[in-house]
Amino acid sequence: MAYKWDSSLETGHEMIDKQHKQLVAALNNLLEACRNGTGKEELAKTLDFMTGYTIKHFADEEKLQKQYQYPDYLIHKQYHDDFKIVVGDLANQLLEEGPTDELVSLVNTSIGEWLLNHIKGDDFRMAAYVKAKTR
Ligand SMILES: [Fe+2]
Repeated sequence: MAYKWDSSLETGHEMIDKQHKQLVAALNNLLEACRNGTGKEELAKTLDFMTGYTIKHFADEEKLQKQYQYPDYLIHKQYHDDFKIVVGDLANQLLEEGPTDELVSLVNTSIGEWLLNHIKGDDFRMAAYVKAKTR
């Protein structure tokens, strides 16, 4: 399955939305690499991008939250930190074992569903706060 970007994922903050779009695309590329049975090298490339971009995006979001003294910064950062561990572990497993059905299903739940829920919940709240502060 591929994840679709639509307006229900738009926080209204330009930088965040741009990066979220990119993350969803990276996730779809990863899933496609898993589905196509592409070689280890190609899989590693999509994993590298996905993990690297996740780290960059979270750092940018956290910087923004600090800049505007977002009151839920610490808990939001904790969610990010936990997720980075999940993504890192899954990436290692995928590289070791290849895209087994079990691992692909974990990519869908632990990465895909987590990400969409995080965007629609935590990130929407944060973006609304930042927007109110910058108005
Ligand atoms: Fe976030």
